[in-house]
Amino acid sequence: MKIIMLGAPGAGKGTQAKKIAEKYHIPHISTGDIFRANIKNGTELGMKAKSYMDQGQLVPDDVTIGMLLDRISQEDCAEGYVLDGFPRTIPQAESLTKALEERGESIDYAINVDVPDQAIVTRMAGRRACLACGATYHIVYNAPKKENVCDVCGEGLVLRDDDKPETVQKRLTVYHDQTKPLIDYYGKAGILVTVDGTQDLNKVFEDIVSVLGA
Ligand code: AP5
Ligand code: ZN
Repeated sequence: MKIIMLGAPGAGKGTQAKKIAEKYHIPHISTGDIFRANIKNGTELGMKAKSYMDQGQLVPDDVTIGMLLDRISQEDCAEGYVLDGFPRTIPQAESLTKALEERGESIDYAINVDVPDQAIVTRMAGRRACLACGATYHIVYNAPKKENVCDVCGEGLVLRDDDKPETVQKRLTVYHDQTKPLIDYYGKAGILVTVDGTQDLNKVFEDIVSVLGA
């Protein structure tokens, strides 16, 4: 099964993508996580991405598209994957469609996690991330067992650099300008599923499973 997650920054794409990956035994591929891992390891790709990410801007398509297409041609993607944070622009979506078409493949579902902007800002301020393993928490809605410590790997949790309120506002503007048109793009392709992302995160997942099948 090949799945794309759509939705505003902080809508809960990563949270749901991890649950989908676990239930359906497919890899969770987050372009944001790949960029953050590269920043942490000080790679050239990381240096390039950081300047854009810290300003709430998108990393240029020429950097992002090649990286993602490489990742999905790896062996563990043969049975499918859940893409989180890609595509984010029409050129990215078109490149993905074309690359898959060349192999006689296509995306099965584009899941749009719908959350209004007002709710996003509150969520981001409470998000805590583990930069070691990529796990995410929320101080109220999805708290770790021990304050500020990752349940998965035991590392400390941080507020992401781009989760500061002024940067969140910029990311929302970029989302409306460049990413929201993808809802229409996948609607026209007939594979769009919209779920109400303001519900409890387990209820959001139930709604997704009711579409993907148990
Ligand atoms: P990325 O890491 O993809 O960030 P994003 O899309 O802005 O998404 P987030 O990770 O912020 O949010 P999410 O929707 O995954 O929400 P989460 O599940 O964590 O990208 C970061 C940057 O990298 C971009 O700005 C860009 O610069 C660059 N980039 C990445 N991909 C790119 C691309 N393709 N092209 C160009 N540039 C790219 O949930 C948020 C919080 O809410 C958490 O605390 C969570 O616990 C909580 N929560 C989740 N669900 C619920 C719920 N139902 N109720 C209450 N709380 C909830
Ligand atoms: Zn961790």
